[in-house]
Amino acid sequence: MNKPNDLARIDHDDLDTNNSSNEHFSAVLEKRLSRRNLLRGGAASAATAILGSMGLTACGGSDHDDPAPAPAPAPGGTTPPNPAPTEKLLGFTAVGKSLADSVSVPAGYTATVLYALGDPISNTTAAYRNDGTDTDFENRAGDHHDGMEFFSLSDTGGVSTTGVTRGLLAMNHEATTNEGLPSFFVHANGGTNSLPRPALEVDKEMALHGLSIVEVRNNNGKWEYLQGSMFNRRVHQQTEVQISGPVRGNALVKTKYSPDGTKFRGTINNCGTGRTPWNTYLSGEENWAGYFTRSGTDNAARGDKSVTSLNRYGVAQGAASRHGWETGGADDKYQRWNISKTGTSTDGTDDYRNELNGEGYIVEMDAYDKTRPLKKRTALGRFAHESASFGKLVAGQPLAVYMGDDSRGEYIYKFVSTAVWNAADATAADRIAMGDKYLDSGKLYVAKFNADGKGQWIELNIANAAIAAYANYKFADQADVLVNARLAADAVGATRMDRPEWCAVNPANGEIYYTLTNNSNRRVEPSSSSQVAPDAANPRSYTDMKGSTAQLGNSNGHIIRVAEDAAGSTATSFSWDVYLFGAEAAADAGRINLSGLTNDQDFSSPDGLAFSHSTGICWFQTDDGAYTDVTNCMMVAGLPGKVGDGKKVTLTYPKTDGSTLSVDTFVGKAASADTLKRFLVGPVGCELTGITETPDGKALFVNIQHPGETTAAANVGDAAKFTSQWPANAGYGAGKRPRSATIVITKNDGGRIGS
Ligand code: FEO
Ligand code: CA
Ligand code: CA
Repeated sequence: MNKPNDLARIDHDDLDTNNSSNEHFSAVLEKRLSRRNLLRGGAASAATAILGSMGLTACGGSDHDDPAPAPAPAPGGTTPPNPAPTEKLLGFTAVGKSLADSVSVPAGYTATVLYALGDPISNTTAAYRNDGTDTDFENRAGDHHDGMEFFSLSDTGGVSTTGVTRGLLAMNHEATTNEGLPSFFVHANGGTNSLPRPALEVDKEMALHGLSIVEVRNNNGKWEYLQGSMFNRRVHQQTEVQISGPVRGNALVKTKYSPDGTKFRGTINNCGTGRTPWNTYLSGEENWAGYFTRSGTDNAARGDKSVTSLNRYGVAQGAASRHGWETGGADDKYQRWNISKTGTSTDGTDDYRNELNGEGYIVEMDAYDKTRPLKKRTALGRFAHESASFGKLVAGQPLAVYMGDDSRGEYIYKFVSTAVWNAADATAADRIAMGDKYLDSGKLYVAKFNADGKGQWIELNIANAAIAAYANYKFADQADVLVNARLAADAVGATRMDRPEWCAVNPANGEIYYTLTNNSNRRVEPSSSSQVAPDAANPRSYTDMKGSTAQLGNSNGHIIRVAEDAAGSTATSFSWDVYLFGAEAAADAGRINLSGLTNDQDFSSPDGLAFSHSTGICWFQTDDGAYTDVTNCMMVAGLPGKVGDGKKVTLTYPKTDGSTLSVDTFVGKAASADTLKRFLVGPVGCELTGITETPDGKALFVNIQHPGETTAAANVGDAAKFTSQWPANAGYGAGKRPRSATIVITKNDGGRIGS
């Protein structure tokens, strides 16, 4: 039976269900390494120049003294596509680390709150009171703004790829802030932390999850969203979404709601995003598994291989759901969150035993036309998706789409389309038809990183003997391989990574960057099947101190990058290195701070990642819990070189038997003041996520997710005890409850962002 989730502060974004033996060493006791340099720079927030009291801060300096920057080296391989004659990219003064409850940006920049949780997007919806009494969330901004893309409009409101004063922001609303069952900031009394959950609370929470499209406009220099725009749209848990591609109609997705396995309700826990070459929005379904419950006797009730699949995807028998939505009432919209086998049919059309197979895809949406259906593109595989990034387009060649699976020890994937690229399709009037053409048929590959700096893409195909003969799971057909991509990837021996978050393709050279946010299960001597020993592509395992608490594994994450071999999108081999290792500036340069980060650059747990197509800047953002004793989460700007511009490094780890584990890795060129600089630090308790820009690079849109998340639910009625009051303390909106929000960053001199 389900029971209240009384485990406070479960990190729903930090999961592992990969117990495969891939890349494992035998289980022996952990030897804890404890050496760490505690030296740090000065008090960051004290040195941050607070310019005004609005919680949006422009910084005049960083938190330490660095030597004067060396002359700017040309960033290898990255010629900015559109350089202005006098600008210097990364010419801004770095923002210091900060624990302030504000958004800090460099001097000369302005950050403005644009669109926050609860903001109405129809003219008939009331202003947000922000006291937990608001309703009609199907017509308001959802919660936990995440990945986001800007779609230009012409001055007359038409589809455009060049418009810079008017456009649509399409964004994910990943989750809500909860401790226990309810999303406490959106209910007047903090909500009901016991079962059954009241239907009205569940309805509100279901509406807060999904996607939104909102029109934004530069009105005489001030960006604003348009409450009554005809383009505005909310996608939530009652929105019909079509199942498209090889899994459509398959036995694995037949449910009471869709007996023919062709449609689904909603999309949930959407995290990273992407943009297709034909100008549609892609949204990755990430930690969806946690929203479902399964009875304690369901394994026996099923008695088939679906149990293996459910365990691998994180819903073990007896699992409680994150919010208890299945208890909202007898209505089917609540019952679907219970995926136990309760019916008597042989095909699952009288219950929701197959419901989980409808989650975990890349979803495509036409931001410009809210009458068009959303489609789950099943050919791209089913896992905890983050972003989806297209490789360089070559006419007459298939398209490559790069993706990652964000759980500890999960994999990196590539989809290669059957259809070859026709540049005329970029401006096709029927954009969803282009998705049908390019995203419904192709090959799905998983990455294996080798110790010599090379790697392979291994096709996940039912014809592969390792998949066809896999002992742990008998695949029925190729649709089964796609639905259970994790199991297929286990079968072929893919490399278990340190939580692949976003990926992005460098427009200058086509190289693919992946943030690997962190992995507390990376251990020199694994003692369980969920732990993984360091390897070349995930080479660090160390002890980091957060106050007096030791954090083990790869606490600060890294950014790996891949260069396809000569075949380009269809290549089955590649070269790789690590662009940057996250670290504290003061950490041991020989085994932790391998990229030589200074106080102007040091970061932990990279997550959001995007290249500006205007400036070529590599932007990345953090979702951190390791370095948050020193600084809130942040955004960093980089001018990267290319795979192979650094050196080979050998890390050695003593083992309990007296032997040494030696790991070779490849580190990109060390960071310098001209190639890497902190640009923004967010308010307390937030993560930074979502990065998109106007085509001229002069307005950058960024999402601040879950400020004040560290507030205890019991304090929901006492604003003085909120750990954050942002964006209210930045002068935005009613009430003091913290709200996820989109901000827009502009440069006061009208220049491009990052110069
Ligand atoms: Fe929603 Fe992987 O972060
Ligand atoms: Ca630390
Ligand atoms: Ca993320």
